[in-house]
Amino acid sequence: MAEYTKTIIITGGAGFIGSHVVRLFVNKYPQYKIINLDKLTYAGNLANLKDLQEKPNYMFVKMDICDFESVLELMQSEHVTGVIHLAAESHVDRSIKDPFTFAKTNVMGTLSLLQAAKIYWESLPERFQQKLFYHISTDEVYGALELTHPDGIEPPFTTVASSGEHHLAYGEDFFYETTKYNPHSPYSASKASSDHFVRAYHDTYGLPVIVTNCSNNYGPYQFPEKLIPLFINNIRHKKPLPVYGKGENVRDWLYVEDHARAIDLIFHQGKVAETYNIGGFNEWKNIDLIKVIIKTVDRLLGNPEGESLGLITYVTDRAGHDLRYAIDSTKLQKELGWEPSLQFEEGIEKTVKWYLANQEWMDNVTSGEYQSYYNNMYGNR
Ligand code: NAD
Ligand code: TYD
Repeated sequence: MAEYTKTIIITGGAGFIGSHVVRLFVNKYPQYKIINLDKLTYAGNLANLKDLQEKPNYMFVKMDICDFESVLELMQSEHVTGVIHLAAESHVDRSIKDPFTFAKTNVMGTLSLLQAAKIYWESLPERFQQKLFYHISTDEVYGALELTHPDGIEPPFTTVASSGEHHLAYGEDFFYETTKYNPHSPYSASKASSDHFVRAYHDTYGLPVIVTNCSNNYGPYQFPEKLIPLFINNIRHKKPLPVYGKGENVRDWLYVEDHARAIDLIFHQGKVAETYNIGGFNEWKNIDLIKVIIKTVDRLLGNPEGESLGLITYVTDRAGHDLRYAIDSTKLQKELGWEPSLQFEEGIEKTVKWYLANQEWMDNVTSGEYQSYYNNMYGNR
């Protein structure tokens, strides 16, 4: 049997960001055993990880993070040394319709994982040495920022981040690691609550934890209920593009592989009990982003320029729709030397090309086919 130097559970590894993190860790660290623990909800799809199935250091376990006893048993039997926790319900619109599921998975599920890690690691002679519980969170816990117009200048305008670097922004304020939590949606409230539990386990029991809060991710394998894959797919099928409100909300977008690289760096070099914000200073007003997507998809499909602009359909705004998110990631950039590898234009081009080339993946996801396939294979418990 191979001797692994670390055994890491990555929860939510069959989802969008989790699949990129699992792929990075399995390929980059053959000396680690990577256990992908996922319940395979509607958002989990093992087709996202087809290329890893035969890797000797990769293992998939279908499990609910709320199932405390099974999680504890798995940690004990596999001698787990680290947890990277991404499993969650992640879509704001679903949280508005079904907040209970968000509290159950995001709050109780995180608590169940924390308690299992605490009990198992406390039972070891070396206790918390070389152990880490790394919790992945979102910038949405900080609430919403204002759109500001300094000296009458229309945003975006050039601002100076705490690093001293200049960036284009839609307001003068940013989310810092010290910004007070002020969540507005059931999703962000559930993530905020889970973040508090993670820190409480450090302060109360000494559990070695790290929390990171990242901005909106985009890239391959994102479930097409989120803005970018939904709109790419709708343009392809000439379906309406539902823009919430006036399309004036601002989001800060990061290519998913850059998030995965940040997670790798922080997992290995981050300081226990610290929080790191992750983001690439890349703010976009929704309607401007949508126009970039339309232009890129039309060009790649050979449609006349602007053909799909007519699909834009303004619809009733999302309840409690946060106006602006913007991350200041200076701490991560300065302390650990991370920076995003892709310019947004390159990232969008790569992303659109991926969705257009992987129509079968998209069709399986939108038809629900992937669920019956993997539930037959792993059981639907
Ligand atoms: P996703 O919805 O694509 O994937 C979530 C995964 O978790 C799925 O594979 C699902 O099957 C699994 N899961 C859900 N409930 C589970 C349970 N009870 N037990 C085990 N597995 C379960 O989510 P994502 O967009 O990849 O986000 C991953 C994490 O990153 C989340 O914690 C999210 O809050 C955070 N985050 C996401 C973004 C973003 O832009 N998507 C930005 C910042 C932070
Ligand atoms: P989304 O991808 O759901 O991410 P989040 O709500 O976590 O930021 O939405 C991104 C932005 O796009 C957000 O401001 C809501 C908006 N949006 C639309 O205008 N139409 C849509 O159909 C969707 C899904 C989102």
